[in-house]
Amino acid sequence: MHKRTLLQGAASAALLAAAAPVFAQAQPFKIGLILPMTGQQATTGRQIEAAARLWMQQNGDTVAGRKVQLIVKDDTSLPDTTRRLAQELVVNDKVDVLAGFGITPSAMATAPIATQSKTPLVVMAAATSSITQASPFVVRTSFTLPQAAVAMADWAPKNGIKTAVTLVTDYAPGIDAEKFFRDRFLFNGGKVVESLRVPLRNPDFAPFLQKVRDLKPDALYVFVPSGAGAAVMKQFGERGMDKAGIRLIGTGDVTDDDQLNDMGDVALGVVTSHHYSAAHPSPANKKFVAEFQKANKGLRPNFMAIGGYDGMRVIYEALKKTGGKGGGEALVNAMKGQIFESPRGPVFIDAQTRDIVQNIYLRKVEKKDGQLWNVEFDVIKDVKDPGKAR
Ligand code: DHB
Repeated sequence: MHKRTLLQGAASAALLAAAAPVFAQAQPFKIGLILPMTGQQATTGRQIEAAARLWMQQNGDTVAGRKVQLIVKDDTSLPDTTRRLAQELVVNDKVDVLAGFGITPSAMATAPIATQSKTPLVVMAAATSSITQASPFVVRTSFTLPQAAVAMADWAPKNGIKTAVTLVTDYAPGIDAEKFFRDRFLFNGGKVVESLRVPLRNPDFAPFLQKVRDLKPDALYVFVPSGAGAAVMKQFGERGMDKAGIRLIGTGDVTDDDQLNDMGDVALGVVTSHHYSAAHPSPANKKFVAEFQKANKGLRPNFMAIGGYDGMRVIYEALKKTGGKGGGEALVNAMKGQIFESPRGPVFIDAQTRDIVQNIYLRKVEKKDGQLWNVEFDVIKDVKDPGKAR
């Protein structure tokens, strides 16, 4: 009797084992999307979630026989929370991919979990150069601050800007922007007369802007994270700095498409360098913007949305390439070297660095049909992250 039960047990175990691959195949493919949905970075979360859902609406929720499931978690942009949520998603929900990451500290805090659990970590927002080096499982679809900063440091001295003050948010991406702008600007014959840093949490730009007014450089070079640009622009205008002949330049984060339309005429003529503008004139982008707005009560997609949208494409393509099997290492390998036309323009995931290679555009804020847009007027093609050479 005992022996028979054992044999039966063994037989059913063998059956189960044989059925396992089919069973695994039928499991949903889970993407744990960790974003700041509330708090200071909430617009980043709103934009990326909307873009991810649009991607799924356009491309279906079944890939290579696997149902794709999006699990959205709000980290309120606190890195300890990001890490805890990632841990829970990996251990309890058994997610196949971690994605999102609104700010650099959140991505950095989670990278060790990606390494330990061999889970791909797709960075859709955070933009400090070094993030991709924090784990071999990190793949980035946003941009890097050095990518954007260098283009402006080349443009400015050729356009009458010889002296600048830099004003950046005091954390890793701000330090990247400050350094890469300053070094290249200096190389091109410019001079940074002062480098100012404002805190990430509850920034008050007023005292810093007063100082810039007194220093009277040709330009104020700004990096602030998505969502903070409107406050800078408003106070810049209130202090009459544009009228005092100080030009505002920076990375495109400051003329964020999420807020640009509400910034008013003080934003007109502001030149920035960035990888995405909602005004990018390609058919792919026109379709993306129209469908995003349709699905989101007229909300204009910004550069965060494009990071989320392309991040979903990279995940979908990787799952397809593994024939629906997935697996952390196989997925990351299948993400490496992907090349495609994004609404932002042509992009490429560098197989060596797992970072994105893309065009950087020079853009100027203009009014068209009563709305403000970042209108592209020049392009530097296929820019690799300059931060990786160091
Ligand atoms: C980061 C966040 C932003 O909102 C942004 O515009 C650029 C960089 C970051 O934390 O890496």
